[in-house]
Amino acid sequence: MALVTSKYMFEKALTNDHAIGAFNVNNMEIIQGIVDAAQAENSGLILQVSAGARKYAKPAYLLKLVEAAIIDTGIDICLHLDHGEDFDICKKCVDDGFTSVMIDGSGHPLNENIEITKKVVEYAHSKGVVVEAELGKLAGIEDNVSVDARQATFTDPDEAAEFVQKTGVDSLAIAIGTSHGAYKFKGDPYLDFERLKKIHFLIPNVPLVLHGASTVLPEFVAKCNEYGGDLPGTRGVPEEMILEAVKYGVCKVNIDTDLRLAMTAEIRKHLKEHPENFDPRKYLGPAREAIKGMVQHKIKNVLNSSGTGSPR
Ligand code: G3H
Ligand code: 13P
Ligand code: ZN
Repeated sequence: MALVTSKYMFEKALTNDHAIGAFNVNNMEIIQGIVDAAQAENSGLILQVSAGARKYAKPAYLLKLVEAAIIDTGIDICLHLDHGEDFDICKKCVDDGFTSVMIDGSGHPLNENIEITKKVVEYAHSKGVVVEAELGKLAGIEDNVSVDARQATFTDPDEAAEFVQKTGVDSLAIAIGTSHGAYKFKGDPYLDFERLKKIHFLIPNVPLVLHGASTVLPEFVAKCNEYGGDLPGTRGVPEEMILEAVKYGVCKVNIDTDLRLAMTAEIRKHLKEHPENFDPRKYLGPAREAIKGMVQHKIKNVLNSSGTGSPR
């Protein structure tokens, strides 16, 4: 079993109406909780590392932890750079042994985004690494931003087709209303499914990626708050919406916030109930189990990816 690209995972996902979870990793317990869940469900798996995660844990530690996870569990893992902001960080990750990188040129005008993405694709492909790019912006909730103004930042379907054709990118992150973090919507959750359908119609063979796809499950927010947290007014993407998006080409679903909430809720609960404990293993152990439970829930009930891992 090995580090693999997402190529075959996405090919299967596109034809079989499931998606692969891409879970953000920052330390050993998070990695162990996720891979234990993927092993238990025999699910395809992407572990993703942000620039912040590289800074926090240092690249060599994360790489070696992921290699250790493969040895320990015997599963295939795609190791992916999340939101690479320029060619340099993408190149570093390719050279380090990542099997997938994201170049996020979404803050640039279309032509510049195409140029930066092309350069990353050329380098990554020469080393057998796949590339995700992003078109459109993931706006969060902000005061005084009208629905029209927000939709103006969503991915334009015709531009998406042009972008993929000109860059040769392997997968495309799209903006249809999701955003990062625990505060995604002011009122009712809304995703632009008509736009998603049009994008999928124009580029049916291109795996689409949904960032900001955490559901921000109310029970985990409530648990955080019950044990001393202060997270008012959170709102995520309902699970039915993720299941719907998966029908229209979404093959990769990015989840970080739900892991953070599961872990934090469990640590808060443990410390509150056991004020005598000061051995980190006493609260990080249950936190790792909470991560495993959350990931198994996603695989079984939101991604439908049980049984999609490599044959044992
Ligand atoms: O895209 C955002 C992910 O949740 C990673 O977050 O940059 O705080 O590591 P981070
Ligand atoms: P969430 O904040 O919704 O978990 O999204 C994470 C993400 O998109 C990482 O790239
Ligand atoms: Zn993201």
